[in-house]
Amino acid sequence: MTNIVLFGPPGAGKGTQADILKEKYSLVHISTGDVFRYNIKNKTELGDLAKSYMDKGHLVPDNVTINMLKAEVEKNPEANGFIFDGFPRTAAQAEALAFFMGEINSQIDAMVALEVADEVLVCRLLERGKVSGRPDDANENVIRERIAEYYRKTDILKDFYQKKDKYYGVNGVGTIGEITERLSEVIDGLL
Ligand code: AP5
Ligand code: MG
Repeated sequence: MTNIVLFGPPGAGKGTQADILKEKYSLVHISTGDVFRYNIKNKTELGDLAKSYMDKGHLVPDNVTINMLKAEVEKNPEANGFIFDGFPRTAAQAEALAFFMGEINSQIDAMVALEVADEVLVCRLLERGKVSGRPDDANENVIRERIAEYYRKTDILKDFYQKKDKYYGVNGVGTIGEITERLSEVIDGLL
C-alpha cells in the first residue's frame, strides 16, 4: 500500500492534482472537504453541522472529522493505497490517522506539500468563486480566514512529518502538468 497526504493551503491545487494522481497510481482519493460538501448537498445532520463552520472558513471539529475519515477509509478495504486531500489538518487528526493506518497494518508514506504564495491562493479562489457556487469561495474575507486557519492549526503538520523523514515540499506554481510531474517524481521515489 502507498498512502500519501497531499498537503497545502486552501487553493494550492490539492483536489486538481489528486484527481490526476489517483488515476495514474490507482489510489483511492479521499477529500474531507468533498465528503462534507456531499453531506451538505444531501442535507444530512453531518452536513448541517459542517456547513456552520465551513461557511465561516473555520475547521470542522476534530472528533466529527476524524470519525468521518475513518469511515471513508473503511469503505475501501481493497484499496491499493490512499491519497488524503485536506486531511489531516490538525495535530489530533495526524495522530488519529497514524493510529488507524496502523490498525490496518499500514502507514502514511509521505506528506507531499504544494507550496503556493498566499496572494496567488486568494486570486485562484476568488476566480473559482465566480463559478463554483462554494460559499467559502464567494467572499474574500472568508478566503483569508481559511488561509489564517491553515497557518493557525495546519501548517505545523509539516514538522510532524518532517520528524519522521516523510515531508516533501513541491513548488505548486506552474501549469497543472508541470506540477503533476513534480509530484510524480516524489511518488515514484516511494514505490
Ligand atoms: P477543502 O474542500 O479541503 O478546501 P480547501 O483546503 O480550503 O481548499 P480547496 O479545496 O479550495 O483547494 P485545493 O488545494 O483542493 O485546490 P484546487 O485543486 O481546488 O475544505 C473546505 C472546508 O471544509 C474547510 O475550510 C473546513 O471548514 C472543512 N474541512 C475540510 N477538511 C477538514 C478537516 N480535515 N478538518 C476540519 N475541517 C475540514 O484548486 C483551487 C483553484 O485553483 C481551482 O480553481 C483550480 O482550477 C485552480 N488551480 C489548480 N491548480 C492550478 C495551477 N497550477 N495554476 C493555476 N490555477 C490552478
Ligand atoms: Mg480541494
